[in-house]
Amino acid sequence: MEAAREAGTSRPANDLAPDFLAHWVVKTARREEMITWYRKVFGARVVHQDRRIAFLSWDHEHHRLALITVPRILRYLFPLARLRRKVYGIDHLAVQFASLESLVTTYERLKRVGIRPVWAINHGPTTSLYYEDPDGIRLEFQVDNFPTAEATAAYFASEKFAANPIGTEFDPDYLLERLRRGDDPAELLRPGAGTRPGTTPRANRRAITWRTL
Ligand SMILES: [Fe+2]
Repeated sequence: MEAAREAGTSRPANDLAPDFLAHWVVKTARREEMITWYRKVFGARVVHQDRRIAFLSWDHEHHRLALITVPRILRYLFPLARLRRKVYGIDHLAVQFASLESLVTTYERLKRVGIRPVWAINHGPTTSLYYEDPDGIRLEFQVDNFPTAEATAAYFASEKFAANPIGTEFDPDYLLERLRRGDDPAELLRPGAGTRPGTTPRANRRAITWRTL
């Protein structure tokens, strides 16, 4: 994903920058649940596993996620571990989808198997659905709202973004309905496009609740 985005920008990476984010590693006491979830969500395949560790990939990378198995007792020693991200440390990892259609059809597919987002928000620069894996690790599934990196950068620098850097919540089912009835996908990327008539979306700081935090 990162390489593709890099190719889409006219600004080259600086000499010190790595090329892309390759993988992340999680210590988990729920290995099977985690593998099942990543299989359903990203079509992950296990490329190696032994008693201690499992390596998963879902694309061209040899692995995207490694799961280090820790004793089950740790689930009970750290009952609040999944809440940690709400107050400290890494909040979420973001993955890119190429189009709004692939984002909302992923939403629909996951909804059918009982996996629902914890937050659906048009941030301005991106349209984003946030999910949480069985260990509570939050993943942002995003699509860029602007066609080029330059246009996104201009939005970041705008008064409009300064006035609402959080975004406007949307109803993914309504976006899906609009897409299916043939509305222009570019129009659907606009903040407010996913607001079902007769409803008022939460926006900006009001969109930050205990659930979405
Ligand atoms: Fe993000």
